[in-house]
Amino acid sequence: MAADGGRPIDALLKEERRFAPPEAFRARAHVKDESVYEEAERDPEAYWARWAEELEWFRKWDKVLEWNPPHAKWFLGGKLNASVNCVDRHIRGPRRNKAAIIWEGEPGDTRTLTYFDLYREVNKFANVLKSLGVKKGDRVTLYLPMIPELPIAMLACARIGAPHSVVFAGFSPQALASRMEDAGSRFLVTCDGYYRRGKVVPLKAQADEALRLLAGKQDVEAVVVVRRTGDEVPFTPGRDRWWHELMDQAERLCPPEVMDAEDMLFMMYTSGTTGRPKGIVHTTGGYLTGVYATTKWVFDLHEDDVYWCMADIGWITGHSYIVYGPLANGATVVMYEGAPDWPDKDRPWVIVEKYGVTIFYTAPTAIRAFAADGPEYPRRHDLSSLRLLGSVGEPINPEAWMWYHEHIGGGRCPIVDTWWQTETGAIMITPLPGVTVTKPGSATRPFPGIKAAVLDDQGNPVPPGQGGGYLAILRPWPSMLRGIWGDEERYVNTYWSKWGRDIYYPGDGAKVDEDGYFWVLGRVDDVMNVAGHRLSTMEIESALVSHPAVAEAAVIAAPHELRGQVPVAFVILEAGRQGSPELEAELKEHVAKVISPIARPDRVLFVPDLPKTRSGKIMRRLLRDIVEGRELGDTTTLRDPEVPEQLRRMYAAR
Ligand code: WTA
Repeated sequence: MAADGGRPIDALLKEERRFAPPEAFRARAHVKDESVYEEAERDPEAYWARWAEELEWFRKWDKVLEWNPPHAKWFLGGKLNASVNCVDRHIRGPRRNKAAIIWEGEPGDTRTLTYFDLYREVNKFANVLKSLGVKKGDRVTLYLPMIPELPIAMLACARIGAPHSVVFAGFSPQALASRMEDAGSRFLVTCDGYYRRGKVVPLKAQADEALRLLAGKQDVEAVVVVRRTGDEVPFTPGRDRWWHELMDQAERLCPPEVMDAEDMLFMMYTSGTTGRPKGIVHTTGGYLTGVYATTKWVFDLHEDDVYWCMADIGWITGHSYIVYGPLANGATVVMYEGAPDWPDKDRPWVIVEKYGVTIFYTAPTAIRAFAADGPEYPRRHDLSSLRLLGSVGEPINPEAWMWYHEHIGGGRCPIVDTWWQTETGAIMITPLPGVTVTKPGSATRPFPGIKAAVLDDQGNPVPPGQGGGYLAILRPWPSMLRGIWGDEERYVNTYWSKWGRDIYYPGDGAKVDEDGYFWVLGRVDDVMNVAGHRLSTMEIESALVSHPAVAEAAVIAAPHELRGQVPVAFVILEAGRQGSPELEAELKEHVAKVISPIARPDRVLFVPDLPKTRSGKIMRRLLRDIVEGRELGDTTTLRDPEVPEQLRRMYAAR
């Protein structure tokens, strides 16, 4: 794909609105002036070490950074435990009885855990894991929805040094099974079910299906089941245990494991350009330093804030900015189980008003949906507690930004548009809300200590104010991924091979304007962003060809007003099969079942052929031209140059 990622650069360049931090906000902000950028640049290692010093260590590091491109180690020789930093250290002081997690279930039930409550639960569940035979280094899979047991289980894993692998509860049994197999995970924590739009999602049944698929491939020793809905669920004696029964018997205290800064804290699967998801590995010291620092400065977090990130913990945003970042800072975090439009479209604003939320972080796709619903929903509620808004997950279009600013922020709240990835662990490009003059649609500047640039194919910087190029990160940072689980080669090839071993390639197109502001334009590879969820075209193609009717499939991302992008599939059927609306519906359902409902194609076109080069490679670029209504690019290298025109007519015909 072109380096502009499909986002119209010209329109963005004409964006002339500017928003300076309101004086009242600036006066109270942690960061009030630009000097932090120069200070960090003067000596980045010393700067990151100052951040690390705000954490609690059993033993201080000997060396800040060892950089053998593309492998970095941070805080070498340092010893710490993430759960101690997120829980123990807060209960020794005035935060002991402060609300750590204010949770609301979709039906309206609520639970509040103080830091001391969280400490108790984490200790006990750490002991439960130990009693089940979980040892330091074992990967524990957490297939849980947005209930307090999820952060409790994550921190309990961290406490005993067992890396967690959280699999988004919206993923299918197949997706869960392949991730458990890839991780070699012998332990699973799940629940009976959870609420989504008033209905119960039977998670335990899905987990059981995954375990059946794993039979003979991966031993699973124990399954812990949280009782959330109370519905009757299948139970396999010997293997399955109830969370509450185990917790009743658990010892109260579990001494934290002394972890090396470079010990793995967790892995998180994300989509890449091939069909196989990759397990991104994050370690303890650097990751915690990165999320701690960015939470404090980007969200300007203060002791009295009520912080709500609407993401799901099953994604990196929830890991870094619901669990580790905010809890390491001792914040009060709001957590919501259900759908944002249930029972009505004002649910988020009910929650903001009810708990006095001061900081609100969500995705552009949600903001566009709020805007489409209309301002009467937020207007029904008192949102005056809000003082800062954030956006993450995809490029935010200036109009959505303006709507957010006016109708949610009441014109007074700075907006932080934060660019980062599963791989970066923490926010990389972002305004600092007390300092940065924002422009709608721009993530503005690299966080202090981060060095980013926009490069062309050869690795030359694209001059400010010129066209698009590729985003690049020019130096290591503490929360960077340390690898892809079990696939060193893929790690090097994917991220550190475009220009050289010492420049990180994120796979996004971007441009820099005359003020040095970054405008992220979208993915330039075969990764798509559907409603803020990262999916690979290849993964969806594999799902389609696993259906008996499908001979071949090409999937591309088509632009979509609300969801940003949606998958569109071009399918060649097996000989003797006929395309029909029923088959289209069946294939869509098949993808939803194999991967997740979020991957469900928006359209499935039955086509006689696909645009292929003479060597048989599908030219997805031409398919993109078709769905984006662009003039068709060069077709001369095709085996059959007539195919794209034919497909274009078919696409337009519906
Ligand atoms: C996109 C989510 C523009 C980008 C934290 C990136 C963004 C991918 C922004 C990572 C933003 C995320 N502006 N694009 N503020 N934030 N992206 O791994 O394409 O789920 O590469 O991490 O989302 O998605 P991931």
